[in-house]
Amino acid sequence: MGGNYKIAVIPGDGIGPEIVGQTLRVLDQIGVTYGHHFKYEEMLAGGCAIDATGEPLPVETVAGCQKCDAVLLGAVGGDKWDDLPGPKRPEMALLGLRGQLGLYANLRPALLYKQLRDACPLKPEIIGERIDLLVVRELTGGIYFGPKGRRDTAAKGQEAFDTEVYSEAEVERITRMAFEIARGRQRRVTNVDKANVLESSRLWRAVVTRVAADYPEVALNHMYVDNAAMQLVRDPKQFDVIVTTNMFGDILSDEASMITGSIGMLPSASLGQGNFGLYEPVHGSAPDLAGQDRANPIATILSAAMMLRYSFGLTQEAEAIESAVERVLEAGYRTGDIMSPGQTLVGTEKMGQLICEYIAKGA
Ligand code: IPM
Ligand code: MG
Repeated sequence: MGGNYKIAVIPGDGIGPEIVGQTLRVLDQIGVTYGHHFKYEEMLAGGCAIDATGEPLPVETVAGCQKCDAVLLGAVGGDKWDDLPGPKRPEMALLGLRGQLGLYANLRPALLYKQLRDACPLKPEIIGERIDLLVVRELTGGIYFGPKGRRDTAAKGQEAFDTEVYSEAEVERITRMAFEIARGRQRRVTNVDKANVLESSRLWRAVVTRVAADYPEVALNHMYVDNAAMQLVRDPKQFDVIVTTNMFGDILSDEASMITGSIGMLPSASLGQGNFGLYEPVHGSAPDLAGQDRANPIATILSAAMMLRYSFGLTQEAEAIESAVERVLEAGYRTGDIMSPGQTLVGTEKMGQLICEYIAKGA
């Protein structure tokens, strides 16, 4: 029997409305094929919210999200708002949503599709059989949320600071999330920190080590972040699940995305307690591509698949989207970012339409 689901939809800025538009189309197709009903509530956040209300994250948006079962977000930001002061910038909408909705765990899978091996900048011998890793990034703590500010000093002019703060409780819950997920994968967790320099990393590492004892079936190793950045391009197959802090996870997930061919392919899920989650592509608003039907909607479409899996427990439906994406790639259709010679170039809308058609056709 089909279910009813209420989704908060935040298209945002730049290419956001286009990629979200195609994703809703795909969800509607899932609804038709599997007998579910998805109800969308559109909300403002980011630059468009600043233009309309003066605030990057209006209170109604947070309240509206809380009334829904999950949130689908496109992207926020753009040159137009780049000169605004820190708290007024569009990016604050993301941090505010994550913080206020308690979404402390950010899952960023980096999967290299075999059809896209040509788009991967690494040599075939480095790629090996497959690249399939998951970055589990802490999302509501660390330097993003610690005390920050500016102060005047007499001798050196202005001084600015941001502070990395982690509590044992924060590290423990993200570590448990990573180990629980690793159980259903290859059972390997790499903890990434900077424990040779940072006190916060030393506490982080101690907590990860302690929690790991509860998961004897999962292997744990530790890596400093500089080495991890190198290992990701030297030998990415060594990784299964990477658990790391907010800022290191931000940086390493962009790097991981590139080895999968294009950042345009990478979805993400931000989770807290319970089934509620926020789903968005890892990439940004790409203002240079906006309104030209050139953006790759796949990262957002795959984010919707993660929503079906993690928030709604609809595994078969999630797999239907993932398999449709794979078959569209198999058939040679590519947006500009993943284009290679001999393939068929398509726009944002056509890509969405093709994915719907393959869902309708079934596996
Ligand atoms: C991301 C983005 C955001 C982050 C920015 C836009 C605030 O880079 O989701 O990775 O740093 O978390
Ligand atoms: Mg980032």
